[in-house]
Amino acid sequence: MKGVVFNVVEEVVTELYDAETWDDLLAAAGVDGAYTALGNYGDDELLEIVNAAATATGLAPDDLWRTVGRLALPKLAARLPELVAEAGDARSFLMAVNDIIHPEVRALYPESVPPVFEFEVSPAGLLVRYRSTRRLDALAQGLMIGCGDLFDEVVRVEPTDRPTAPDEALFSVRFEGSGP
Ligand code: HEM
Repeated sequence: MKGVVFNVVEEVVTELYDAETWDDLLAAAGVDGAYTALGNYGDDELLEIVNAAATATGLAPDDLWRTVGRLALPKLAARLPELVAEAGDARSFLMAVNDIIHPEVRALYPESVPPVFEFEVSPAGLLVRYRSTRRLDALAQGLMIGCGDLFDEVVRVEPTDRPTAPDEALFSVRFEGSGP
């Protein structure tokens, strides 16, 4: 996983808590924590950091992944501000992830392997297919919810139990307009 992902997770933890908490998590996870944006690091390091946070807080790892994804999305988006302006709302931004955002990410961060997303319009909103051998479903869910925060909208994301290939998950996404 690209270092930029670790960088935004560090920003999230530092803002929620402080720099010392991040250092404690790195120590508990047994990783050295020197992440440069363009570097590549094992996915296992991110898993260990989230697991360490789960142990420290008593929260379920999936709840933490969702929270981290939600809070990380605006920070990732800040790396590509022109795409946020172009999209204008959460639905357009989310629907740009596969054809515009992640291709841009691949250009900016060589050797990155972002997941694949497919979209189908459904009565509720969108049916989103997420495809990745990493299967970071809860992170993906949080990132989609975070698209709402970016535009002051409420985005609801529910996993569906529809059958999928082993490297896929399907989510039902509703856009509820302006947030509180
Ligand atoms: C401007 C906004 C975004 C930026 C800059 C960005 C950037 C990245 C980067 C650098 C990675 C790591 C890829 C690698 O290391 O190989 C990544 C992974 C990921 N991105 Fe994005 N992303 C953005 C928006 C989104 C959105 C809107 C979603 C959700 C729909 C999303 C879902 C994911 C997921 C789930 C991963 C984890 C890797 C995996 O599942 O295989 N990203 N993204």
